[in-house]
Amino acid sequence: MADVPKDLMDQITRLEELFVVPTEKLKEITDHFVNELTKGLSVEGGSIPMNPTWCMAFPDGYETGTYLALDMGGTNLRVCEITLPEEKGEFDIIQSKYRMPEELKTGTAEELWGYIADCLQQFIEYHHEDEDLQALPLGFTFSYPATQEFIDHGVLQRWTKGFDIEGVEGHDVVPPFEAALAERGVPIKLTALVNDTTGTMIASAYTDPEMKIGCIFGTGCNAAYMEECGSIPKLAHMNLDPSLPMAINCEWGAFDNEHKVLPRTPYDIIIDKESPRPGQQAFEKMIAGLYLGEIFRLVLVDLHGNPDCKIFDGQEIPKLKKAYSLDAGFLSAIEEDPFENLQETADLLQNKLSLVATKPELELIRRLAELIGTRAARLSACGVAAICKKKGWSSCHVGADGSVFNKYPHFKVRGAQALKEILDWPAGKGKGRNDPIEVLPAEDGSGVGAALIAALTLKRVAKGQNAGIRDPEAMLKCGVTK
Ligand code: BGC
Repeated sequence: MADVPKDLMDQITRLEELFVVPTEKLKEITDHFVNELTKGLSVEGGSIPMNPTWCMAFPDGYETGTYLALDMGGTNLRVCEITLPEEKGEFDIIQSKYRMPEELKTGTAEELWGYIADCLQQFIEYHHEDEDLQALPLGFTFSYPATQEFIDHGVLQRWTKGFDIEGVEGHDVVPPFEAALAERGVPIKLTALVNDTTGTMIASAYTDPEMKIGCIFGTGCNAAYMEECGSIPKLAHMNLDPSLPMAINCEWGAFDNEHKVLPRTPYDIIIDKESPRPGQQAFEKMIAGLYLGEIFRLVLVDLHGNPDCKIFDGQEIPKLKKAYSLDAGFLSAIEEDPFENLQETADLLQNKLSLVATKPELELIRRLAELIGTRAARLSACGVAAICKKKGWSSCHVGADGSVFNKYPHFKVRGAQALKEILDWPAGKGKGRNDPIEVLPAEDGSGVGAALIAALTLKRVAKGQNAGIRDPEAMLKCGVTK
């Protein structure tokens, strides 16, 4: 960066001070995280919800049957039909994607459930024309924080990821969903309401017995792991066998909502303030794909207005001023620019923002993308390390999915390096391959994972193990299980 003038260099140094998270800080965050995970399981609770999900077993690879899976994502609605054959760890899948209209995210609850039921109806009519169907069991991946008294129940705690539909928070989402299906006569029985992280963990464990944690690093950010019922004080009143497993949807996006340890920058504070739910999802807002581009944009707008440095000097920045106009893909593309002169970055700025940048400005922009992407990866490692520390796991596999994990350059290796620093692994480790704790690309959690959880639930009901099942009789009437 020899050619960067002093005013810009000073800004780069300032940004590094703001965004670099040193090893000691990572360790401090992780230790606080461990305490907060425990607190979330206590009767009093904490800011991390630590929701018991009533998914109470890992698959053994021999689950069988045909299941539907529905994934209500941010951009798409995906419906799958999954068949688990006799062969261990195998599956067949057919699927259809439907666009999730942007207006739905801020529309009414009725519109939401109606739209989803319409998609399911279309799917069934298309794939099962003229068949006389008994109710097909459905695993519904609903990737928002929901408290579950039963596996086929879920009270939405709060919308995340930019959703803001009135009249859903604080209510069980299952009855209105089932009512919309019933109105249309769609032969489906919701068997399990599933979080994407739990689905990811279970799908990955179907073929890899070392899998202990499922993570999503995508539009949102979260993890699930398998706890023992005896370590969940808030379920003590249910007198469950303490050795039984229980998948916990951590909802770790809410970590440090009270702002005790996370090194928030002024930009993070703006993101929070302007979001539909200020004060919520403090950790998620520093890591998840929905926010990375916005953090970047806010820094550039700030630098443009800063009299101490001249960035995009003399240019108007109307496009850059538009909130949420840059996504994580924009940062990825900058970090992936292979050219010494950052030509691709220059083209991106020109095409997307109508801005002309000098070479030193391009250098600053590249560094800024690196800083934001690296911070996200390093902070995410604190969550993984905290679960492992809490459980005393010195080695395991973690299944991860989501656009940031899969597509953001260097995210995996930066996360692995941070895990090494936090957990004091010896030299040679921290590269992501063959590390004691390895974060690996997961199997399809919201498809196969949700189907497996439906299968595991029916298997449990068939054995008369009805903990966390609202209506075992109705469940017995659907699907075929062994
Ligand atoms: C939601 C979680 C979800 C995560 C990843 C968060 O915003 O609260 O339930 O697992 O996003 O999709």
